[in-house]
Amino acid sequence: MGKNGKKHKESHHRASRRLPRDDDDSSALPSSAFDLPPPPQDHDQEQEELESESDDETKQDLVADSPSKFHLYQLSVQSPKGDISYLVKFFLMYIGGRQPLHFQEDFCGTALLSAEWLRSDPRRTAVGLDLDLESLNWCLDNNLSKIGSDAYSRLSLFHGNVLQPFEARLVSHPPQIDHIKDLSLSDNTARTMREATLPARDIVCAFNYSCCCLHSRKDLVAYFRHALNILSRKGGIFVMDLYGGTSSECKLRLQRKLSGFTYIWEQEEFDVINRRTKISLHFQFGKKKTMRHAFSYHWRLWSIPEIKDCMEEAGFKSVHTWIREMPDTHLHENADEYTVGRDVKYEELSSFHQRDAWNVYVVAVANV
Ligand SMILES: C[S@@+](CC[C@H](N)C(=O)[O-])C[C@H]1O[C@@H](n2cnc3c(N)ncnc32)[C@H](O)[C@@H]1O
Repeated sequence: MGKNGKKHKESHHRASRRLPRDDDDSSALPSSAFDLPPPPQDHDQEQEELESESDDETKQDLVADSPSKFHLYQLSVQSPKGDISYLVKFFLMYIGGRQPLHFQEDFCGTALLSAEWLRSDPRRTAVGLDLDLESLNWCLDNNLSKIGSDAYSRLSLFHGNVLQPFEARLVSHPPQIDHIKDLSLSDNTARTMREATLPARDIVCAFNYSCCCLHSRKDLVAYFRHALNILSRKGGIFVMDLYGGTSSECKLRLQRKLSGFTYIWEQEEFDVINRRTKISLHFQFGKKKTMRHAFSYHWRLWSIPEIKDCMEEAGFKSVHTWIREMPDTHLHENADEYTVGRDVKYEELSSFHQRDAWNVYVVAVANV
């Protein structure tokens, strides 16, 4: 799981670009793990309900002995409304002509983004794919159960490797709603993605730096080919994110306070020969209790041109980079909070001079 913060009372979103948006609350930002989302300015009623629901759940979780690490992660790192807003914007910008309805979230973890995708439009479908069965089951019990029974019929969650997606196995629906399987998008008898009948996807995404889980160029190109092959022949986009800057290549510890706990992003020493880094996410409750290494990742920190080359080699027609500078980490390393200003926008740029920290969205376009 990744590097962003979800919006909430004090707000936690990931770094992102801000575009004018047509369908969403304009305060939402996409997810990301090391930046701190700013407080929301305007809430619609639905968002307020969601937030107060999250508040209650947070309190419950935090008084329990073992708060759910997935719940803490979602609060600290993710901002699904913002992500979806940008995904739709990119789709309309580079493909256009129709609304995107069919979505796949690779490296989905708890598939929060898929759940939000379904919640915001009843015509939408989603596919989630991840290696971690525990997080997929947590999604079914926690994220999907909040959306309503029809969501189970529109989401197909698969347990498996993005490098062998067709072998990935469909995760069962919870027993209490077993009858809903009859309505499932996927063939009732399907057990793997190969056997499932799924609509061609309009958008595929790999967020929170998940492509860094793939360490070889061969794997990266193979993964991009899989993503391209499931996109609609009428045109579709693949979107991933990446972080970088001089601060990404050294030891670093950033933290931000959320409701009832502190979220900590820790970066180990950077291996320049292999471009490998280890990222750990910790959650701290007051002075005494810390959930250390709630999530740890061994990443290869790809560069933007490497990613772009691999996308083109995989067969994408064009690749676009949306980048924004992040606040200087030196000014925040010993501070209580690392925060991201709301005013710095993501911009589509073809050249950008190195900074202390930046975040980028790479959008690969498959046209007819
Ligand atoms: C950084 S987390 C991102 C989670 C989520 N996408 C988000 O935005 O917060 C990376 C996820 O990728 C999954 N993962 C890592 N390697 C994978 C692979 N080869 N195939 C499928 N999932 C993988 C992990 O289990 C983990 O849930």
